[in-house]
Amino acid sequence: ADALKIGMAGLGTVGASLAKILVERRDMLATTCGRPIEITAVSARTKGRDRGVDLSSAAWFDDPVALAREADIEVFVELMGGAGDPAHAAVRAALARGIHVVTANKALLAAHGVELAALAEENGCLLNYEAAVAGGIPVIKALRESLTGNTISRVYGIMNGTCNYILTKMEKEGLTFEACLKEAQRLGYAEADPAFDIEGNDTAHKLSILTTLAFGTKIAADDIYLEGIANISIDDIRAAADLGYRIKLLGVAQKTETGVEQRVHPTMVPLDSVIAQVDGVTNAVAIESDILGELLMVGPGAGGNATASAVLGDIADIAKSRPGAQTVPVLGRPAAALQPYRRAQ
Ligand code: HSE
Repeated sequence: ADALKIGMAGLGTVGASLAKILVERRDMLATTCGRPIEITAVSARTKGRDRGVDLSSAAWFDDPVALAREADIEVFVELMGGAGDPAHAAVRAALARGIHVVTANKALLAAHGVELAALAEENGCLLNYEAAVAGGIPVIKALRESLTGNTISRVYGIMNGTCNYILTKMEKEGLTFEACLKEAQRLGYAEADPAFDIEGNDTAHKLSILTTLAFGTKIAADDIYLEGIANISIDDIRAAADLGYRIKLLGVAQKTETGVEQRVHPTMVPLDSVIAQVDGVTNAVAIESDILGELLMVGPGAGGNATASAVLGDIADIAKSRPGAQTVPVLGRPAAALQPYRRAQ
């Protein structure tokens, strides 16, 4: 069968991991998907850098928007990050000409998800974004597909690997906040601007996406109570432990009689709870629904390979699908059927 041609924009931690996996596992993926997956176009900020993978046969684009607009591809893989351009313009350009998009960009979806979902649906495209929330944990698939028909009352969890890594290291190794953050950056967990991690914005972006999938309301990333972990000291962590608690940065979204409540803040969780045992870069997402009951998913939440694994799954879904049979609504229901967001009173 013909290869699925993909164009990649962004070759940072996640992009480089993904490219390596696609090249090294070409035969295995071809067997599983029924057709090979081939990187035919790439764009990144610096051209020459050694990323441990040979991409010289792919067409090079200095401008990711030009790649999205012109490259001979079936799938545009956006791994640049950032809510604005060029990511926004590039994703729009790809969808506008009927190219499927796979992205890990939670900031982009938090800001423009409804618009992009509508554009994808108008053009008969898939817009897959499993990697955007909780890294390798398949939480988008769970909410978007597996839990269809359930009424969901609450979604909450640890959705930022960097913060959880910092809180864990501070407690277990007695290191300073700054030292832990540096290590998280070195390991490729942190955002380009780590303020997004530690001030809670990254968790808020992810939560806003889960809220929409869970409750069918339009994305409201600006209506989230926000408090990060920058002010948490080792003394706070020890005091919590003395009382039988551990401090975790949680994102919580719940439905009440009057509307939706969304918040992100450091939370004391009982030491004997499952969520308290979630250590390091691991994330955890709990979903409470009426037919299934409580679902708790725990797994790697950040880093090159964990995130690349989710991106790869999204690409493979497209490779396996038959043209014309691609009907998963981007935000769990058609964009036009999303309800207005109303904040709980
Ligand atoms: N900076 C993010 C985190 C990356 O630490 O969770 C994964 O979205």
